[in-house]
Amino acid sequence: MKINKEYREICDNILNEEHFMSLKNDIHHGTNRYDHSRRVAHLSYLLTKLFKGNVKNATRAGLLHDFFNGNAKDSEELSYLNHPLVSVENAKKYFDISIEEENIIKSHMYHYALVKKVTHVKDENKENIFKPTSKEGRIVCLADLLVSAYEGIVFEGRYAAALYFVFLINLIRY
Ligand SMILES: [Fe+2]
Ligand SMILES: [Fe+2]
Repeated sequence: MKINKEYREICDNILNEEHFMSLKNDIHHGTNRYDHSRRVAHLSYLLTKLFKGNVKNATRAGLLHDFFNGNAKDSEELSYLNHPLVSVENAKKYFDISIEEENIIKSHMYHYALVKKVTHVKDENKENIFKPTSKEGRIVCLADLLVSAYEGIVFEGRYAAALYFVFLINLIRY
């Protein structure tokens, strides 16, 4: 199928790179970060096709958005605030990424800021949250939120309806 061929051509060099493959060892939402990244990339690919965006940028940035080692619970700060910047550094180190891809990776945690805003939780670290500046940036941010909620339900057994609810409110207000 044509779509699968295109998707594989965009992803294969990243998926088979040894540093990226090390993400298989990191626990992430009850699964591993390699599989999480693949899910986000695939959903980003499909959504970008649907909304006629730059498929290559969204898919590659979707794959590389969480390109850091360590388990999320090891460090809350690395997990929620610093990891987009760490991922950008790693992506630059091992792959030739464009400025657009860098911006998508950097802003993928914007959904976290929206959840904080809606729930009125004070955020002391706003300086590390970047707003998406492109259609592809908003798509990867959305894909990460949806995949994370899905993984929370399937792999961690968490009830994520509240997360979806918060997301829908913010989608309307965005
Ligand atoms: Fe992330
Ligand atoms: Fe993620």
